[in-house]
Amino acid sequence: MLYEFILIFHNWLRWIICFFLIVTILRSLNGVIKKKDFNKADSFFSGILVGFSHLQLILGFSLYLFLSPFVNLELADFKTTVSNVMMRFWTLEHPTMMILFVILVQASRIIVKRSDDPLKKHKKNLTFMLICVFILIAGSTWPFSKIQRPLFRSSLEKTKIYLETNNNLERLS
Ligand code: HEM
Repeated sequence: MLYEFILIFHNWLRWIICFFLIVTILRSLNGVIKKKDFNKADSFFSGILVGFSHLQLILGFSLYLFLSPFVNLELADFKTTVSNVMMRFWTLEHPTMMILFVILVQASRIIVKRSDDPLKKHKKNLTFMLICVFILIAGSTWPFSKIQRPLFRSSLEKTKIYLETNNNLERLS
């Protein structure tokens, strides 16, 4: 089913994004410490990070607007959404923080491109990427987060159990 496929894809893409975020941070840190040039490889990795972040944005929006049974966009029911920790997280907190994440990843690339001093490029990139790490930790699901989700999802099983126990299976069928 489409929901399951997109959710698994969205979950695994998070790890790909984490990988390129770490690579970008390490390269910029190395660039600052060793005063290296901001070379083609640096630009390549930050470009890949931007690309995957945009793909994640598209997957996120498809879950948000069409597929996820955890998102409640009906204004009439907004009170219920805000008072429910799980629904508030998926309807408001996660999308807001993740959109900010993608904006910062993109902004960093534009700002770094405009700057002509290699050291400044690395410093600016490093600053943006470190802020992105904090946003990713706060806005996504981890073993220490208030909302628990599988680290590596392979099926819809656990989410299905949650929905079944909350009589909210209609949008899954
Ligand atoms: C870099 C950006 C993003 C990352 C790293 C990310 C990460 C995640 C992760 C790890 C999950 C849990 C997946 C699971 O249960 O296995 C998730 C779920 C979700 N994400 Fe994102 N996300 C991002 C962007 C977005 C955006 C921009 C939106 C909406 C506009 C969005 C909407 C959702 C929704 C609605 C769910 C819950 C789906 C459900 O369980 O029914 N995400 N996201």
